[in-house]
Amino acid sequence: MARLTAGITTSHVPAIGAAIDLGKTQEPYWKPLFDGYEFSKKWMTENMPDVVFLVYNDHASAFDLSNIPTFAIGCGESYESTDEGWGPRPIPTVKGAPELAWHIRQSVIQDDFDLTTVSEMTVDHGFTVPLSLLFGQPAEWPCLVIPFAVNVIVYPPPSGRRCYELGKSIRAAIESFDADLNVQIWGTGGMSHQLQGPRAGLINTDFDMKYFDDLINNPDKLADMPHIDYQREAGSEGIELVMWLIMRGAMDEKVREIHRHYHVPASSTAVGHLILENG
Ligand code: DHB
Ligand code: FE
Repeated sequence: MARLTAGITTSHVPAIGAAIDLGKTQEPYWKPLFDGYEFSKKWMTENMPDVVFLVYNDHASAFDLSNIPTFAIGCGESYESTDEGWGPRPIPTVKGAPELAWHIRQSVIQDDFDLTTVSEMTVDHGFTVPLSLLFGQPAEWPCLVIPFAVNVIVYPPPSGRRCYELGKSIRAAIESFDADLNVQIWGTGGMSHQLQGPRAGLINTDFDMKYFDDLINNPDKLADMPHIDYQREAGSEGIELVMWLIMRGAMDEKVREIHRHYHVPASSTAVGHLILENG
């Protein structure tokens, strides 16, 4: 059977992708951010999964007001980088895992979570920046990836509770897939940031530190935090953090923290990153 071996969180910011693509990671502004991923890139090579189940949000790239799925699972063969205004990122084609994705889709829908099934889409910085942070700049991505898009752009996003319970359903789906596969789940986006309005630039490190700790030790309680608290405390785009609860729901009740990194700011965002193992 397939095994869920680790849960990873990381923020995304388009400028991080640009810093990597333009060779700026060692510049003084960027170095402290990227230094925190050096451990992670090495850890990934030593704990390479066959498949990453990558929970992320699209930013009106593949989905816009013409089509807003709350949850969309990528069941396609491959995915290319979206053009977000500066051309598609110069990264390898992402290879999907259609057989496992279709299995998870069937299992999770039968568990009463409505998923949109997507065979063809492009992927934006929400998806590609986490891959670049954890894998660097390989000629080919070292594993298969299942994209799982969550609407956090158009109100209302799914509740933290729904995300947490969905994670449990995804775990059961992965572990009922009859193949010897090592699968990781990544929850991306966050941490505190606000890109719009009078509070643009808001960052709340106290909130972010507590979020790290509650995610690890108190996830069931954290799952009940209402949207308005994310909005007030973590800024309008801080709501991306609900996606971390999908990852957390898929992990054991008790997890071990393998690595933590926090860096403020990267562009307008508080960047947070965790590697968790079960047990
Ligand atoms: C930034 C952060 C985001 O989450 C995003 O989607 C776009 C931009 C930023 O900090 O610049
Ligand atoms: Fe974002």
